[in-house]
Amino acid sequence: MVKRDKRDKNSKGKSGGARRGKRGPTMAEQADRHALYEAAVQCVEAEIDFVDDEFMRLRGRRARYLREDFCGTGNTSCEWVRRRSDNYATGVDLDEEVLGWGQANHVAALTPAQRKRIALVHDDVLEATTPLQDIVLAMNFSYWLLKERRLLRRYFRRVLDALNDDGIFFLDCYGGYDAFRELKEKTEHDDFTYVWDQASYNPVDGNLLCHIHFHFPDGSKLKRAFSYEWRLWTLPEIREILAEAGFRRTTVYWQGWDEDEQDGSGEFLPVTRADADAGWICYITAEK
Ligand SMILES: C[S@@+](CC[C@H](N)C(=O)[O-])C[C@H]1O[C@@H](n2cnc3c(N)ncnc32)[C@H](O)[C@@H]1O
Repeated sequence: MVKRDKRDKNSKGKSGGARRGKRGPTMAEQADRHALYEAAVQCVEAEIDFVDDEFMRLRGRRARYLREDFCGTGNTSCEWVRRRSDNYATGVDLDEEVLGWGQANHVAALTPAQRKRIALVHDDVLEATTPLQDIVLAMNFSYWLLKERRLLRRYFRRVLDALNDDGIFFLDCYGGYDAFRELKEKTEHDDFTYVWDQASYNPVDGNLLCHIHFHFPDGSKLKRAFSYEWRLWTLPEIREILAEAGFRRTTVYWQGWDEDEQDGSGEFLPVTRADADAGWICYITAEK
């Protein structure tokens, strides 16, 4: 189903049973779950390409100030400050452990000049107060952690208030009939297998429990490296709540299809109608 699956939460990684003993640590024991997560689900260059180009198309100017909500390791924020020498980024996340990892592995690798233009902030997105932004991002479905309409509207309202007058909020969303099923989906990478596990879905309240597992060529496993308790929001609900929060216009961007590759083209274009596919992923812009 969803090709660009991305998620993260505060769960601890567990090493699965595998050959070990005299042969030393297993691949799972040596693995870094944040590095695996980024390799499996993120493509920050493509994401920033889309956000940067779409802001320019809609506003006729380049954005400079970007806030990445639910930033995790801050990988996307780092890409933003690398892009142009007058770009500034603020990442906000509740989890000190993941922020520390991002600081040590991404921020530390920036040039001193780039480092001056980024801040990773330990805060709740429902409480954080930041300077006015051109762009706010909520990617990899992180806002699905806000399971009640009232709470989601409150968060959207906070984002609206954090934006400049011509600011734009970018979100992503996934869906399709497979999104409502309990299933496991494996994606092979060079040195690990990424497993997206939709463990349970309750149609009565729309709550969804998902896990990410990683399997390795030596047979070892990192089970439940990340777990997510989400509300499976649908596109019309999200757009209605954005409008209730005060956003003037929302647009949905659907991925094109590459006939040669028989896969998503990676290009996202505005749509008002789309196919009832088994699994899809899209971007949303919400304009102030
Ligand atoms: C799925 S990850 C998203 C990582 C990143 N945005 C990406 O695109 O891959 C979700 C992150 O949201 C953070 N988080 C959860 N609730 C939060 C809140 N109320 N305020 C700020 N961060 C929160 C978690 O600590 C976690 O790092």
